[in-house]
Amino acid sequence: MTPTKVIAIANQKGGVGKTTTAANLGAGLTNLGRGVLLVDADPQASLTVSLGVSRPDDLPVTMDNVIQAIMENKPFDPREGIIHHEEGFDFMPSNILLSGTETRMVNAMSREKLLSHYLDTVRQDYDYVLIDCMPSLGQLTINALAAADSVIIPTQQHYLSAKGLEQLLNTVIGREIDEVVKGTYSPRIKVFDAKIPLSVRAVEATAEGSSVVTYSKGSKVAQAYARFEKEVDDIGKRQREKNRTDRLR
Ligand SMILES: Nc1ncnc2c1ncn2[C@@H]1O[C@H](COP(=O)(O)OP(=O)(O)OP(=O)(O)O)[C@@H](O)[C@H]1O
Ligand SMILES: [Mg+2]
Repeated sequence: MTPTKVIAIANQKGGVGKTTTAANLGAGLTNLGRGVLLVDADPQASLTVSLGVSRPDDLPVTMDNVIQAIMENKPFDPREGIIHHEEGFDFMPSNILLSGTETRMVNAMSREKLLSHYLDTVRQDYDYVLIDCMPSLGQLTINALAAADSVIIPTQQHYLSAKGLEQLLNTVIGREIDEVVKGTYSPRIKVFDAKIPLSVRAVEATAEGSSVVTYSKGSKVAQAYARFEKEVDDIGKRQREKNRTDRLR
């Protein structure tokens, strides 16, 4: 059994490609032979929809039920709600109900650790858990950052000026977030070499409920994603090795 790496995909700026990155990275790591769980931590449920669930509000069990159960200290079946995608990975869906629950998380015991508690019950089944965050730094995003070994911050290239990136990182690791998160992230920052080009295929793939790699194999954008996934997995291998050693201590 491989110790799992948990990655949050976050940026408080909206529409920068967080959800698209989560879906494609999930499919890509699966193609590399890894076991992957995608977690939709956004009440807007874009990830859930992009993975083929057209009506997330009709789902009987989602992140909302799990977070509520943990807050109320009630037993729950950790595998319940998890959906298997035809491209080989699993995902835990979300829906709009999670929005109301997020406002109540503020009053919960260990309020930044609720998602982490949930992941502890399922992580052993996966090499990677990828969390798609909403575009804000509310309780859900703080929970995702607190549960994660690392955070991927998708940005658009024009946004990558020294000033812009500095502001972004200040926000992600800044004062709003508690010491747990700060201690974990502030020392190490890497900018990925792979750049994902703008492409209508990325949009079409999402509409099809499929990853770019599967939808348009061989296209420029699929190739760029493949490079990105390889970079993530090369770093991930080291992290999982570290998690394994930490566990054996
Ligand atoms: N490489 C790409 N080329 C062109 N369009 C893209 C690309 N990647 C994503 N998009 C489109 O850009 C829009 C925003 O992407 P996405 O939903 O992934 O961003 P997000 O950061 O998750 O947004 P939000 O902050 O609302 O959660 C979507 O319509 C998506 O289909
Ligand atoms: Mg999104």
